[in-house]
Amino acid sequence: MRSPGWADLYDWRLERNGGVPLFRQVYAQVRSAVLSGALRPGTKLPSSRAMASALEVARASVVAAYEQLLAEGYVEGRHGSGTFVSADLPSLPRPARRRPPTRAVAPRAVPARAFPEFERATTQTEARPFNTGRTLLDARTMETWRKLTHRAVRSLGANDLGYSDPCGLIELRRGLGDYLQAVRAVRCDPRQIVITAGTQHALDIAIRVLLAPGDEVWVEDPGYPLTHAQLLLAKARPRPIPVDAQGIVVDAGRRVAPRARAAFVTPSHQFPTGVALTMARRLELLAWARASGAFIIEDDYTSEFRYSGAPLASLQGLDEDERVIYVGTLNKALFPGLRLGYAVVPQALLPAFVSARYLMDRQPPTLHQAVVAEFMQQGHFAAHIRRMRQMYREQRDALAATLTRRAAGRLAVEVPDQGMHLVAYLKGGAADTEIEAAAQRAGIVVRAISRFYRAAPPRPGLMLGFSGFPRQLIVPAAARLAALING
Ligand SMILES: Cc1ncc(COP(=O)(O)O)c(C=O)c1O
Repeated sequence: MRSPGWADLYDWRLERNGGVPLFRQVYAQVRSAVLSGALRPGTKLPSSRAMASALEVARASVVAAYEQLLAEGYVEGRHGSGTFVSADLPSLPRPARRRPPTRAVAPRAVPARAFPEFERATTQTEARPFNTGRTLLDARTMETWRKLTHRAVRSLGANDLGYSDPCGLIELRRGLGDYLQAVRAVRCDPRQIVITAGTQHALDIAIRVLLAPGDEVWVEDPGYPLTHAQLLLAKARPRPIPVDAQGIVVDAGRRVAPRARAAFVTPSHQFPTGVALTMARRLELLAWARASGAFIIEDDYTSEFRYSGAPLASLQGLDEDERVIYVGTLNKALFPGLRLGYAVVPQALLPAFVSARYLMDRQPPTLHQAVVAEFMQQGHFAAHIRRMRQMYREQRDALAATLTRRAAGRLAVEVPDQGMHLVAYLKGGAADTEIEAAAQRAGIVVRAISRFYRAAPPRPGLMLGFSGFPRQLIVPAAARLAALING
């Protein structure tokens, strides 16, 4: 592989009063850079003209040095394209390798054990069924995405290259505002929308704005482990509140931590159970927040992918008191590597929220925002969601049907109305972690949902992502999983 032009940035130096001829010094510098491994084989050297100008010496001195290096085999000339560090210098010493630290450094903010999920999260790139959090993009979206990206690159202007609004591009915020009002009944002015790198980032900002170390916070039990871990990182005190068939049990929250500063919830599709928070509970939750002065952080992930049943409007849309921060993500609607999401922030919190966002990373990257804005404006986003909804629904059905047909005696499969994963509860007291491990050995990724419980007694089950895999892959993998579970 050709090395990039690091030689142009190398700190070439000459000693003018040292008595050593200049050509000799150039020769010695290059040779030592090659021998020390600082310049790797294949690296292009600066042209003799550029080197001479950088060192303020006659070009002839550089030419003489290069010729000597060439003769000795340190560098090679490629006709018409320049001088390169020789590709085969077998006796070169390897660049010194950094020694790994002998012991991991214990983080000061949180106990190291707080993040067992990090390890698992890194496997999310894995393309094996039934890994969660994966999305599919069909050929139409890919093609459109490429076209719009090329166009955005071609029309990069001063605004795209410089610092800009920490809240994000107004075109994208307007597009999102229209979408959220129409589809999620979110009530907002586009100026209340802050573009983030995704849910994770939005939650982090909310935590910084709302919480001081030691503050109590409601989290769902079972719940999303990264929210819990983020709260620990901020030294807040997450209090697990049980979830039942109607969603988070507000009454239990009032008993456990009546004066909590905030509640982090996933009302449209509880993570990981998939339960939708009922209207009665929504009103109860809002009433608690109003009475106690708490805020609710509504994580509305995967709301784009609703397959059946009337969609429940967002909690934010029911809120008369500006107590809800609504958080959405494009990383699920499009693809996780995009790293774009948004928060709809109550007016009273907006200045603090924008300041925190600015201090963390100034602003979102402009190019991808411009692409998404265009993607939305031209109607591709809505069409993409419609097509993916159909595809994911078929994948969900194929998974549920195969598991139910083959392992009905061992699994109670819940078919969710929304989302990108389903939960198959285990019948007969099997341990979900054991099945998780056995499946892993068989090349299948499942997540034991007992891992997502904190204080509530776990109901063992398997969380299976269906969004990232075509039907043709899902059916045989589900059959293999069923066989494994049947023993
Ligand atoms: C509950 C929940 N919220 C949000 C997200 C999306 O996070 P992000 O937008 O940071 O990729 C996920 C992804 O797995 C999730 O499970």
